[in-house]
Amino acid sequence: MNDLMDLLKERRSIREFKDKKVSKEDVRKILEAGRWAPSSFNSQPWNFIVIRDWKKEVGESGSWSSPVSRSDFSIAIVSDEENELNAVNAGIAGQNIVLEAWSLGVGSCWIRGFDENKVKKILSVPSDKHVVALIAFGYPDENPSSSRKRLEKLVHWSDW
Ligand SMILES: Cc1cc2nc3c(=O)[nH]c(=O)nc-3n(C[C@H](O)[C@H](O)[C@H](O)COP(=O)(O)O)c2cc1C
Repeated sequence: MNDLMDLLKERRSIREFKDKKVSKEDVRKILEAGRWAPSSFNSQPWNFIVIRDWKKEVGESGSWSSPVSRSDFSIAIVSDEENELNAVNAGIAGQNIVLEAWSLGVGSCWIRGFDENKVKKILSVPSDKHVVALIAFGYPDENPSSSRKRLEKLVHWSDW
């Protein structure tokens, strides 16, 4: 269990990547982690698009999406019907993906700062689907730090 806590605490959002390819085998493992995420009613309401050819276009689609352009590859998490439950489901799949990547030494960064209509067009996503998030991947070329609020500020024992 301690290993999991170490992974959770040591993972950082990585926005600068080395010019080194992630193997196909590791990309598959990363996707497999998404496949095994839990979902409401086991609906698995997601598709994953592996982006290699359109990194530049997608990365330039929003003000916070530039890590996609610099990534080795990126993944678009696409959900079925757009609703709150599916946003939660997609978030869990994405977290599985990000943690598996980190365990393989692959850095990543969640991206919400993109223009969904532009990205749907670039990636030919059907109009009834929703791009919940992008995640950029690659071997880390930076070592950023981060912080969290203190537990005592977040936790309410028994009631608010
Ligand atoms: C839902 C979500 C959306 C995010 N969107 C962006 C984004 O558009 N661009 C970006 O550079 N980072 C984005 N991030 C990364 C956050 O800035 C980062 O997780 C946060 O600052 C904490 O840093 P850490 O992940 O290194 O601990 C996003 C993270 C999450 C979970």
